[in-house]
Amino acid sequence: MLDPSADEIRNWGNSVIQLMTNYLGDLRDHRVYGRMSSREIRGRLDSVLPTHGTDFEDLLKVFRETIIPFSRQNAHPRMFGYVQSPGTALAAFADLLASTLNANLTVWRSAPAPVELERLTIDWVRQILGFNAEAGGLFVSGGSMANLAAIATARQAKNRSSARLRMYASSETHFSIAKAAALLGIGRENVRHVAVDKHFKIRTDDLVAKINTDVEAGYVPFCVVANAGTVNTGAVDPLAEIREVANRFQLWMHVDGSYGAFAVLARSARGLFAGLEQADSIALDPHKWLYLPVDVGCVIYRAPETAQATFAHDAEYTRIIGEEADEAFAFWDYGPELSRRFRALKVWMLLKGVGLHSLGEAIESNLACTRYLESLVRASNDFEMVAPVELSIFCFRHVPSHLRSESPQAIDEFNERLLIALQRDGSSYLSNTTLGGRFALRGCVLNYRTTLRDMEILLDDLRRVAKTLPTSV
Ligand SMILES: Cc1ncc(COP(=O)(O)O)c(C=O)c1O
Repeated sequence: MLDPSADEIRNWGNSVIQLMTNYLGDLRDHRVYGRMSSREIRGRLDSVLPTHGTDFEDLLKVFRETIIPFSRQNAHPRMFGYVQSPGTALAAFADLLASTLNANLTVWRSAPAPVELERLTIDWVRQILGFNAEAGGLFVSGGSMANLAAIATARQAKNRSSARLRMYASSETHFSIAKAAALLGIGRENVRHVAVDKHFKIRTDDLVAKINTDVEAGYVPFCVVANAGTVNTGAVDPLAEIREVANRFQLWMHVDGSYGAFAVLARSARGLFAGLEQADSIALDPHKWLYLPVDVGCVIYRAPETAQATFAHDAEYTRIIGEEADEAFAFWDYGPELSRRFRALKVWMLLKGVGLHSLGEAIESNLACTRYLESLVRASNDFEMVAPVELSIFCFRHVPSHLRSESPQAIDEFNERLLIALQRDGSSYLSNTTLGGRFALRGCVLNYRTTLRDMEILLDDLRRVAKTLPTSV
């Protein structure tokens, strides 16, 4: 098993490909999710510490009979929860090949061609965003890690010694920003939550007021985080205006584009991102709106040497000797990780294999599905939107006629119960959020398989499941 023969590898591969083909072929017939318990799953897994090996077919049987049915089917066209990409067959093969080569992308000499491929792919991402030619960065595990690396660099660039640092982000900002501030010793309490307008976009008047108050109180403002697609509603902050405020107060401008920034590829959304290319850093997640499987996030720095000043660390056991500048390149100088898997392969295969044109069309189609859902909700008399649609996130609730005269709290409670019932039913999957203190059903279209018809099915599923709930609230 540790070192299989060529025939064994071929047989295992054929079985795996068969499984993959069946799974992806029947995807629409699967329930997205169902009722399941930890005890039930543990009961199915052989918990005895294995002293002897097991046949590959038996391992695959566990995957087929336990892992697949007891998973949420993230590739399903009606998986609308959170910010979940479906993955692609192309990237699954890329991951297989990356693990086969097992390249470790620490420095150029450890993986010459893979490192060049990552540098090339990062440069393509830079071009997609319209950043300056000198900008650069690297792939990391996800958006949280990209935000962490960028905030660390911002602090290094702006002020590394002050104990009274302050940074600014709208109240809609993803929690990974506050977490980064906590981990970096800046402190959660020094992330100021700036108010948002009725479109859930940062209010720059409140941003300026908070900065002025902090300066007067002796704090040192160093960074503002702008959202290119908030996790709650998909709002894109006014990026050019934030750049102007950042310039006025000499702040680092970081953009969290983990969810939304790749929508710049869609013609109908492009205008929202004007000013994005002026940011000092940006966090992105190819494992979100480039449809790739986890884990691949990305951080791009406008001036990579600032990241180098943050992350470069000399150690005798990693000292690079006898190499020219290009070949002395080390990714560990630009981010927190040392050993790094060959994430670039799946990004490169996707961009090269599919091309920007088709990716833009897929994102455009996701936007169209979301706008269609919004139009269905607005035209109905039993659903209502609770936030405007900006990208592919939709927040709404079900208010059937018998609930119309009930209190807001009763409507919240009904929708909470509806959400759980929908998830257990399994035909469609939504997640939830709270907006203005009110519970909302929340969906995000992030799958190239999703069609307009799926949006109709979602509303039908909700109506059908709602009828099974007790009418008294
Ligand atoms: C806006 C935003 N930022 C950051 C993150 C964190 O990304 P990751 O889960 O890849 O760490 C998310 C995740 O949904 C997000 O939506």
